[in-house]
Amino acid sequence: MNTYLKEYQWSQIGAMLKNNKRIPKTCTDDCTGKLVLITGTTSGIGYHTALAYASRGADLICVNRNKEKTIELCEKIEREYGVSCSWYLADYTRLDEVLAVGRQLAALDRDIDILIHNAGVFMTKKSITSDGYEQVYQVNFLSSCILTHMLKDKLIAQKEARILYVNSEGHRFALSGVPLDDPHWKRHRYTGLKSYGVAKTAQLLSLIPFTSMFDGSGVTINAMHPGDVKTNMGENNGRIYRFFKHLFINTSARSPELSAQALYYLGVSNDLDSISGRFFNFTTEEIPAPHALDAEAAWRLWDTLHDAGVLR
Ligand SMILES: NC(=O)c1ccc[n+]([C@@H]2O[C@H](COP(=O)([O-])OP(=O)(O)OC[C@H]3O[C@@H](n4cnc5c(N)ncnc54)[C@H](OP(=O)(O)O)[C@@H]3O)[C@@H](O)[C@H]2O)c1
Repeated sequence: MNTYLKEYQWSQIGAMLKNNKRIPKTCTDDCTGKLVLITGTTSGIGYHTALAYASRGADLICVNRNKEKTIELCEKIEREYGVSCSWYLADYTRLDEVLAVGRQLAALDRDIDILIHNAGVFMTKKSITSDGYEQVYQVNFLSSCILTHMLKDKLIAQKEARILYVNSEGHRFALSGVPLDDPHWKRHRYTGLKSYGVAKTAQLLSLIPFTSMFDGSGVTINAMHPGDVKTNMGENNGRIYRFFKHLFINTSARSPELSAQALYYLGVSNDLDSISGRFFNFTTEEIPAPHALDAEAAWRLWDTLHDAGVLR
């Protein structure tokens, strides 16, 4: 029997189902003069979030892997909104590229006011990166964790910043938490839902050490579920998966503009001043699954990352 299952409060699942249907709160405050860093802005939620911030005056930094799509977006943003939109390229399946961008961002002489980690992937088939990590884990969790860690001192020195992770209710699928003893899924059966759940759970667990590191610094760090929205997520998978996605998921999925509305609220609204270490469904605070709240597991994960030398 899974130990976390005993801790489950099923009323929280009811709350999640209710929150999934809500319309996110809006924030009408202006963002002129702020610098907002968003990853994965070439499609879906990241794309609409970039437009939401730029349309209210924010300067942007986009961190993406596709140069052509990134230039096209930045040119559109600068043309239509008159803000600056600079960009860096990093494929999150390559730690050398993430580290290189992290070094450049840490050396920026301008404050990063809001940092939105959005890039993510869903894969039905297991794949191990050249760095030796399961790909969904590396893209959705590890690379964003490394960037936050590399920017930690800069953000603390600024005395004010908000970090937002685009997480997922999908973290609930990792019923046993993060299998630190089996990073290559040799002993656990790999499924897309489980690997996605593990990556998102690892990200939620990392909030625990990060929140304590940022405590009292003026830097907050929170995670959110952006709704079940129609984007390119999962389109990299095989025909059968895509057939079912288009038939069952896309038909009830909502607009990524709602996710952008929520990410704007969470990044800008005064309601979030000094709120840190929390999980939101759109803009409603929610309690994550028990396995994503296990402080002992969180620090074990942290030690594993340190021992592997990825948090430099
Ligand atoms: N859609 C939903 O219903 C839903 C629900 C819960 C959570 N989320 C989360 O929302 C976030 C955004 O996803 P989305 O739904 O907007 O999907 P999407 O349209 O597929 O966008 C994903 C973004 O991540 C980028 N990305 C993927 N692999 C990457 C890599 N190896 N290196 C760098 N960037 C990479 C993509 O770049 P390319 O354009 O180059 O592929 C794209 O910009 C993800 O973290 C996802 O887990 C989505």
